[in-house]
Amino acid sequence: MSKRVAIFLSGGGSNMRALVRSMTGDHPARPALVLSNVAGAGGIAWAGAEGIATEVVDHRPFRGDRAAFEAALAERLAPHAVDIICLAGFMRVLTAGFVTPWRGRMLNIHPSLLPRYRGLDTHARALAAGETEAGCTVHEVTPALDDGPILGQARVPVLPGDTARSLAARVLEQEHVLYPLVLRRFAEGDRRPVMLP
Ligand code: GAR
Repeated sequence: MSKRVAIFLSGGGSNMRALVRSMTGDHPARPALVLSNVAGAGGIAWAGAEGIATEVVDHRPFRGDRAAFEAALAERLAPHAVDIICLAGFMRVLTAGFVTPWRGRMLNIHPSLLPRYRGLDTHARALAAGETEAGCTVHEVTPALDDGPILGQARVPVLPGDTARSLAARVLEQEHVLYPLVLRRFAEGDRRPVMLP
């Protein structure tokens, strides 16, 4: 039976779209839910139009009460009988209370070559540091931010004249290649890292 995948996002959801498009044919997983903490997230409208179940849990009414926000997430998630969660541009930090029960079943994509540049503004920081190479990482989610076993990485060159924006766009193209590859292998039970190119 296919694995049921929930994808969490906060924005446009280009990674979510790449994941959804990949889950066809003999793929061992299917999209079961797209969930966002932002009601107007472009990804929610797209997923709804594709006939995928959607949920929105706005974090703002919880006023920083992460435990209550995460309890609401868990409650909305439960009926969808999900096997794997993919964080794809989900811009809320999840604490151990939510993460621990999903250990080994939750993935994240991060726009840097971890362990470098955890957190935000990865591209600006990589440029400021004079890096000649950038990229993205898919990893298992653990309670520590942008940590956890690495399941795949894709590298891109930093080019002369790059801005955070141009570098982000180059990395994002590779995110759309890497994340579907890793999810497919992960859903098959293969956790050996995928290294691109
Ligand atoms: C992606 O670049 C993803 O790696 C990044 O947000 C973007 C979402 O784009 N995630 C993080 O920074 C997580 N800390 P998308 O909504 O088009 O997939």
